[in-house]
Amino acid sequence: MRGIILAGGSGTRLRPLTSVHSKQLLPVYDKPMVYYPLAVLMQSGVREILIISTPAHLEIYRELLGDGHKLGISLEYAVQDEPKGLAQALIIGQEFIGDQQVCLVLGDNIFYGHRLPDMLREEAHRLDGCTLFGYPVGDPERYGVAEMDEEGNILSLEEKPLKPKSNLAVTGLYMYDNEAVRRAIALEPSARGELEITDLNRTFVDEGRARLVNLGRGSAWFDTGTHDSLLEAATFVQILEKRQGIRISCLEEVAYRMGYIDHEQLCIIGKELSGSSSYGQYVIDLARQEAAEPVSPTPRAA
Ligand code: G1P
Repeated sequence: MRGIILAGGSGTRLRPLTSVHSKQLLPVYDKPMVYYPLAVLMQSGVREILIISTPAHLEIYRELLGDGHKLGISLEYAVQDEPKGLAQALIIGQEFIGDQQVCLVLGDNIFYGHRLPDMLREEAHRLDGCTLFGYPVGDPERYGVAEMDEEGNILSLEEKPLKPKSNLAVTGLYMYDNEAVRRAIALEPSARGELEITDLNRTFVDEGRARLVNLGRGSAWFDTGTHDSLLEAATFVQILEKRQGIRISCLEEVAYRMGYIDHEQLCIIGKELSGSSSYGQYVIDLARQEAAEPVSPTPRAA
């Protein structure tokens, strides 16, 4: 399975924070926002990832993350010249995806859950058609909304409905089989001239080939599209990290626990990060602890 992170858009709702800055590089407590969706892909077992951003910002992503070899993954980059909808990511990524399945994640979505890595790997394994991930929210009108029947089948999907049929938001994490690329190319633009991800997903729903996994209790999901939600996400990360003495979505830790890099490489990147940053110190401490008590072969949440 290939992975795509869409980190485009002009982030108008977050101006002036985003007047000169890419939204998905804004800090969420101790790390840039894009670390969180990248960690999700890495934890899903996806190691070949395309990052899509605007012409103005793409090079900053490349500078930050490089070609991925330090994390034992492969990162490629592509430009979205104009924001023409989320489904456009599959068209831009067409060659990169090739004949593979694809997991698309929006660069401003933050997921956390102890069971999440295992669950994502299971879902990637059983994928047939399209798999969506739902999360109950108090303000569904801000999102794509799924209406489900008692057996857990998707009855309808609506994009930002004025009168939502449920409180189940469709999060910005989508798994597709290869068919999705052809379908994205065939999509008609919506009234606002965009290739809507909800329209793409509906083509799978119509054929009974869409599955929705309700992340529900025991996990957290933030879309950082407003000043408040950005702050809430940062506060969530801060509280959890301080209370438990762990780091969420620390890419170096994820890479190590997933077996993408070995202990030697963890030590090298720890030193590079510098111990004067508490993030860097965390990686150095992790490397020290692991020298004394090496990681079990089973990947753990990070
Ligand atoms: C997009 C999708 C929406 C989804 C949301 C999740 O909306 O169109 O269906 O629920 O991402 O973050 P946007 O945030 O781009 O307005």
